[in-house]
Amino acid sequence: MKPDILLLEPMMPEIEKQLDAAYNVHRPTAGEPLDKIAGSIRGIATGGGTGVPRAIMDSLPHLEIIAINGIGTDAVDLNEARRRGIHVTTTPGVLTDDVADMAMGLLLALLRGLPAADRYVRDGAWGNTPPPPPPLGHRVSGRRLGILGMGHVGQAVATRARAFAMPVSYTDRRDKALPGYTFVPELLALARDSDVLVVAASGGAGSRHLVNRQVLDALGPDGVLINVARGSVVDEAALVTALAQGTLGGAGLDVFEHEPDVPAGLRTSPRTVLQPHRASATVETRLAMGKLVMGNLAAHFAGRPLLTPVA
Ligand code: 8YV
Repeated sequence: MKPDILLLEPMMPEIEKQLDAAYNVHRPTAGEPLDKIAGSIRGIATGGGTGVPRAIMDSLPHLEIIAINGIGTDAVDLNEARRRGIHVTTTPGVLTDDVADMAMGLLLALLRGLPAADRYVRDGAWGNTPPPPPPLGHRVSGRRLGILGMGHVGQAVATRARAFAMPVSYTDRRDKALPGYTFVPELLALARDSDVLVVAASGGAGSRHLVNRQVLDALGPDGVLINVARGSVVDEAALVTALAQGTLGGAGLDVFEHEPDVPAGLRTSPRTVLQPHRASATVETRLAMGKLVMGNLAAHFAGRPLLTPVA
């Protein structure tokens, strides 16, 4: 008998095929009603941003495992999972490089004005004045980089920044000394002394709105914010205001507070470069993530130790 599992967010077709071969996969997102099958569900596969809504968790009396296709656990009630003895796994390690690459991509796109210049060529405007060519961009190399959250992703961003001759400072909830980089205990001080602030901290209640109005003001009119972590870490309303008033230079964002809703103030601003939560979205990484999800589910249902359980 194949175990019944819920798939709360689509995965790569190759991975879904493997899921279908090993499990009875139920897809509420495809309109399948939950109430009739809730009693038989033993596992969930879901994305980091999607997690498991508490109402769904509560409706599944025989849930044994939540396999997150991502590293974020902020959308799963871990205390409740612990209380009920439900295992939770993530996909650490395999997406670090892609997420750091996206941070650098957003930074380059924003400071060099790549989207507007691409449109200029694409629209056939090049060589026909008016319109005038896009304004000059700004140099990336040598800019002072501040990193909020020096976990695996933060450190991978720092490694890349070295190749751009960017001095790197960081803050983290743990006071960790990392050779070559400057630890700054206060986020406000970090923002004041940085040209670029990259958010690489975990989401959740502990980091909610850490990047607030004061931090954005400290970054200043020539400063830019890059977020590849969670939208909840940034006070989005304050960000919209800072961009509209020009008290912040720009923002490169892969994540938002209320995805997939993105405020018009961010969508229409010439000071933003936006992505639909895609930092880990490469074929290579999504395959590696899917393999870990499959491996964790297989280990659980075979009674073997989980590959990458959440501590
Ligand atoms: C993924 C993420 O886009 O790792 C995470 O927590 O949010 C992202 O890597 C997501 O998990 C896939 O939906």
